[in-house]
Amino acid sequence: MNYSLPSEHESKINIQGVEISLGFPDEFNFSWIGQRDVLEQLLAAWLVIDEIDIPLNPRLIGKPGVGKTTLAYAAAKHLKKQVYIFQCTMDTRPEDLLITPVIDKAGGIRYVASALVTAMIRGGVCILDEANRMSEKSWASLAPLLDTRRYIESIVAGLKVSASPEFRICVTMNDDASTFEIPEYIHSRLQPQIFLDFPEADEEKRILRENLPFVDEHILEYVVNFLQRAHASNENYTVRDGINIARYAAKRLKSVNGNQGNINNVLQQAIVMTLGDEALSHII
Ligand SMILES: Nc1ncnc2c1ncn2[C@@H]1O[C@H](COP(=O)(O)OP(=O)(O)OP(=O)(O)O)[C@@H](O)[C@H]1O
Ligand SMILES: [Mg+2]
Repeated sequence: MNYSLPSEHESKINIQGVEISLGFPDEFNFSWIGQRDVLEQLLAAWLVIDEIDIPLNPRLIGKPGVGKTTLAYAAAKHLKKQVYIFQCTMDTRPEDLLITPVIDKAGGIRYVASALVTAMIRGGVCILDEANRMSEKSWASLAPLLDTRRYIESIVAGLKVSASPEFRICVTMNDDASTFEIPEYIHSRLQPQIFLDFPEADEEKRILRENLPFVDEHILEYVVNFLQRAHASNENYTVRDGINIARYAAKRLKSVNGNQGNINNVLQQAIVMTLGDEALSHII
């Protein structure tokens, strides 16, 4: 590496004579409940077992709302690392992923590192979130980072930036909503694939409880039963839908006139308003 590591609070770094502003880590109160196997698979992929070994770049795959981002965040925090989340979209350009030029107050150009490049420099974890939405052009700029070279080349800043040995990356993808086909040479760099499935009933209940500690037991119980029946019918409803249903039902019951209704009617209404009429077929 040809630059000295910045301290945690330093927000600028000089690389090859070019000043780069760094981003700030994401801080959430996310903890991972249940499903130890996927957490262990992710931590194993990131492990470095020899001086000449490098970490893998795992890919978390599962339906929307199944817990991919939460798992990646919790695994990074388990390693006591800073986490930088980059939200990918179909409009993400290579420079957005790497280093962007912005005009400063004096009319000059300032270079700003993305969440990804900040994580590479600080030795944190980058979560490339919903990465299946990104175009091939943007993926191509990550090819050297995702193999043994572990660097990126910023065309706009005219720089090559190497990742700290502490740097780890993980990408999350929905298994049903690929916007672009990921090219094979990138596919082969994003291994292993870790698949997330729906949680068991008791885990699902604990997840709802963790997210909604202020909501009545009866509501959570009802929502878990609903979700479990939906999972058994291979429906795509996830714990995120469950959290939204329970949260809305609890609000409705606290709202003006809401507490006059029958709780189960309020819950059914919350289900329809969240997921549509078809969801009623999973209620008994
Ligand atoms: N095992 C779990 N432990 C704790 N919280 C969980 C777990 N699984 C899901 N959740 C909760 O479910 C919600 C959805 O999770 P998350 O956002 O991680 O899903 P996702 O798979 O990344 O979804 P998307 O594909 O839409 O980005 C969050 O509120 C999260 O806290
Ligand atoms: Mg996510």
